[in-house]
Amino acid sequence: TVLKIIIGLTTLPQMPLSVASRQLEAKKLRTDMKKIGTHNGTFHCDEVLACFFLRQLTEYKDAEIIRTRDPAQLAECDVVVDVGGEFNPKIHRYDHHQRTFSESFHSLCPEKPWVTKLSSAGLVYLHFGRRLLSQLTQLKEDDKQLEVLYDKLYENFVEEVDAVDNGISQYEGEARYSVSTTLSSRVGHLNPRWNSKSQDTEEGFKKALAMVGEEFLDRLDFYKSSWLPARAVVEEAVLNRHKVDPSGEIIIFSQGGCPWKEHLFVLERELQVTTPIKFVLYPDQNGQWRIQCVPAGLNTFQNRLSILEEWRGVRDAALSELSGIKDCIFVHASGFIGGNKTQEGALEMARRTLQAAAQSAAANGKS
Ligand SMILES: *[C@@H]1O[C@H](CO)[C@@H](O)[C@H](O)[C@H]1NC(C)=O
Ligand SMILES: *[C@@H]1O[C@H](CO)[C@@H](O)[C@H](O)[C@H]1NC(C)=O
Repeated sequence: TVLKIIIGLTTLPQMPLSVASRQLEAKKLRTDMKKIGTHNGTFHCDEVLACFFLRQLTEYKDAEIIRTRDPAQLAECDVVVDVGGEFNPKIHRYDHHQRTFSESFHSLCPEKPWVTKLSSAGLVYLHFGRRLLSQLTQLKEDDKQLEVLYDKLYENFVEEVDAVDNGISQYEGEARYSVSTTLSSRVGHLNPRWNSKSQDTEEGFKKALAMVGEEFLDRLDFYKSSWLPARAVVEEAVLNRHKVDPSGEIIIFSQGGCPWKEHLFVLERELQVTTPIKFVLYPDQNGQWRIQCVPAGLNTFQNRLSILEEWRGVRDAALSELSGIKDCIFVHASGFIGGNKTQEGALEMARRTLQAAAQSAAANGKS
């Protein structure tokens, strides 16, 4: 009780002052505080992601998100996404619903290839994405690696959100089965059910904001820490290709498991590789060697050159006998991958396939 009295005595006289000053402080903060405007009611992945992106920037770090369709309230916002019927980056208005809007990443940045109509997510990403990624990764905005990540995350995260929001299907025709777990559909499920008593969307919106944010950061971390470092490995292998075989059509990775396909296609273009690389050799988890064919394209099962037809589906001793190559392990029935106990063996399988292809091309040429 003595303590209480002492505290009471010492703090009481100061109370009115500190309350007043705190109120003043709060008022000042409120007027200083930036405002991000978006629509209220049912929320979608695109504006949730747009709000998340904006909140990662220093200037909107503590910004309040105002969800309304009231033009007067929106007019007071520092940036408005997905509502307002206006796209004007100069005054930070990023809606895509107006009839006049038909922009894609490509139409606004002709050097980029994506022609999917933008949603508020893509619009905000396009205008703030480099700065956003720079802040999140500590890479400089003009770092080439940052540009690679900027492209990668549009193509593998944001573009899908743009397309879904604009009702653009992935392909013509009917899907064989439905995909119901995309980020956009999971955000959709956080809205109130039509028949639930409360139609309040604030809590769901907050959950969605946390969810899309976590997934974006997780994906960014993956691309930065796992996918991007593979590029250097592939680049070195491509530069060393003539040391592996004079043809330059075989490359070797000293470590397996590295995601190489996409990097290889990009690097062949960048490094102006004129004879396309046909085979990739790398050790598997058991220390044996794999020979894998380079596919004709990123999303095809066709190969630039498949492993010799007569070896396909044959294993071990039978394969060694057939090929005359010691210690062979297998060639997949479709001919896209094979194994040999050693690097030299795998290399020999690649060389023999190249020789056979050259012979058959020469034979065809003669006839
Ligand atoms: C959205 O906001 C407007 C204006 O602020 C309000 O009149 C309307 O009832 C709200 N709609 C929903 C679905 O909350
Ligand atoms: C795999 O094939 C090569 C090619 O001739 C062969 O020399 C090699 O011995 C085989 N594997 C092993 C473990 O040696």
